[in-house]
Amino acid sequence: MSGVAGRALVLVGFMGSGKSSSARSICPRALDSDALIEAELGASVDMIFERDGEAAFRAAEDRVVLEALNRVGAGAGGGVISLGGGALGSAAVREALSHHTVVLLDSDVETAWRRVRRSKRPLVSDRESFNALHASREATYLASANVIVPAERRESLGDALPSIKALAGLPAGTRLLWAESDSGSYPVWVGENIAGRAGFDAAKRWAIVSDTNVAALYGSTFQDPAQRVVIEPGEEHKTLATCERLWTELAAAGISREDGLIALGGGVVGDVTGFVAASYQRGIPVVQVPTTLVSQVDSAYGGKTGVDLPSAKNYVGAYHQPSAVVADTSLLASLPSGEVAAGMAEVIKTALISGGALWDSVKDGAEVDSDMVLACARTKLRVVSEDERDGGRRQVLNLGHTVGHAIETATGYRMFRHGEAVGIGLLAALRLSGHGALRTEVAELLGNAGLPLSAPDVDPDAVFDALQGDKKRHSDGTIPFVMCEAPGQVSHGHVIPLPAVMDAIKEVCQ
Ligand SMILES: NC(=O)c1ccc[n+]([C@@H]2O[C@H](COP(=O)([O-])OP(=O)(O)OC[C@H]3O[C@@H](n4cnc5c(N)ncnc54)[C@H](O)[C@@H]3O)[C@@H](O)[C@H]2O)c1
Repeated sequence: MSGVAGRALVLVGFMGSGKSSSARSICPRALDSDALIEAELGASVDMIFERDGEAAFRAAEDRVVLEALNRVGAGAGGGVISLGGGALGSAAVREALSHHTVVLLDSDVETAWRRVRRSKRPLVSDRESFNALHASREATYLASANVIVPAERRESLGDALPSIKALAGLPAGTRLLWAESDSGSYPVWVGENIAGRAGFDAAKRWAIVSDTNVAALYGSTFQDPAQRVVIEPGEEHKTLATCERLWTELAAAGISREDGLIALGGGVVGDVTGFVAASYQRGIPVVQVPTTLVSQVDSAYGGKTGVDLPSAKNYVGAYHQPSAVVADTSLLASLPSGEVAAGMAEVIKTALISGGALWDSVKDGAEVDSDMVLACARTKLRVVSEDERDGGRRQVLNLGHTVGHAIETATGYRMFRHGEAVGIGLLAALRLSGHGALRTEVAELLGNAGLPLSAPDVDPDAVFDALQGDKKRHSDGTIPFVMCEAPGQVSHGHVIPLPAVMDAIKEVCQ
């Protein structure tokens, strides 16, 4: 199956991610490093651990893997090999992997534990050390992977295979994240100079939607589209009136269900175009090509589309998953600093949800780059894959948004960028969560990014009134909040007494 001569397809990931069976599902002749070691040493992996110790096993693994990668690159095993979960502990193996296409089968710790806890595998003793091992290996897997495929479904690798092959035709350094949800799966491409080259079938007719700023900068990225529609920039144009103009222009251009839309722009273009795609002729494909940090780390993924009403944000919309997302980080070079800062609010929110390697890097002041975009997309897509329709777990993605959206609505969408309002909303959410030290730490991160920490000219009563329009408000008038216990420990559905909510709003509106 090897896509490019000399490049093997190498499956890596934690134990229990299903590497061996996934490898065999795409290539029955695929090699398996543990099986090769067992054959060479004449004992099972658990016996080698017991008899010779882990260090001896690792030494044998190093040798066997390096030799096998050479052979597989030359076509042995059909060009496919799966590696044991600890093989990337070796610097020599990591170096050798840079010459191959590395696919991380990405399992969350729950799934991995459920699959292996009754097995005889070494390193599966107690839950705590299993969790710690899982967390300690995450950054190494991510650093080596060209492709990330969720490990929950065995069929995912096969579904992603055509996109994995397409990676060979894209600039070096481009990475692929496979997105899954109940209503379908799609490729997410992350890299530089990939807009116009990835994510869409050139044989199809595409209409490009962007705003005036983005059209002037990047409109020529897509040659000879079936139609170009340019909308006014800004949240105040995320309206049904803009959709009506789009529907009308698409109809006049003869765009049909055989065709598709490309949303080239920030979250406003993405949300509007996604909704137009969901509703035009009852649904046509949309490819998201996000051009802001907010959209590259958040809004382009997960299929929530829609527009605002004057009285409430995102009140009209539909779930419509993109057929692909192309996050070209070179497009961020022209982004004004205020827009980069707004994106950092979503990055900090996502890092709080994810915890682990992403939180550590954001806390340490990580640069905006494709690693950051990929890590945020991975976090969001994992949540969406569990709960596409916002019935439960997906609500954690609204951390900071309940008050943030109310601030946007109360100020007519004109005073703050979405990300700025989310940053202020995060501080309100952390106050309600009762973790002052974390709130202080997050305030420092937001401040370092150049974001406002309060909304001093905003009337707290107006924000409180706008909260009453929150889509998640219960029929008894209570509003569920998302709370954060600690990075990586975020939960939804907390009903907070209204006076406490008012106090948190007053604090950020001082
Ligand atoms: N659907 C979702 O899941 C989801 C998630 C988060 C946010 N959102 C929505 O996203 C919207 C905010 O998105 P946003 O912050 O991207 O705002 P935006 O789309 O308004 O873009 C911000 C500004 O940057 C300009 N711009 C875009 N790309 C540029 C580039 N590469 N160089 C220079 N200028 C550029 C735009 O013209 C605009 O003026 C909000 O409406 C929010 O509700 C949706």
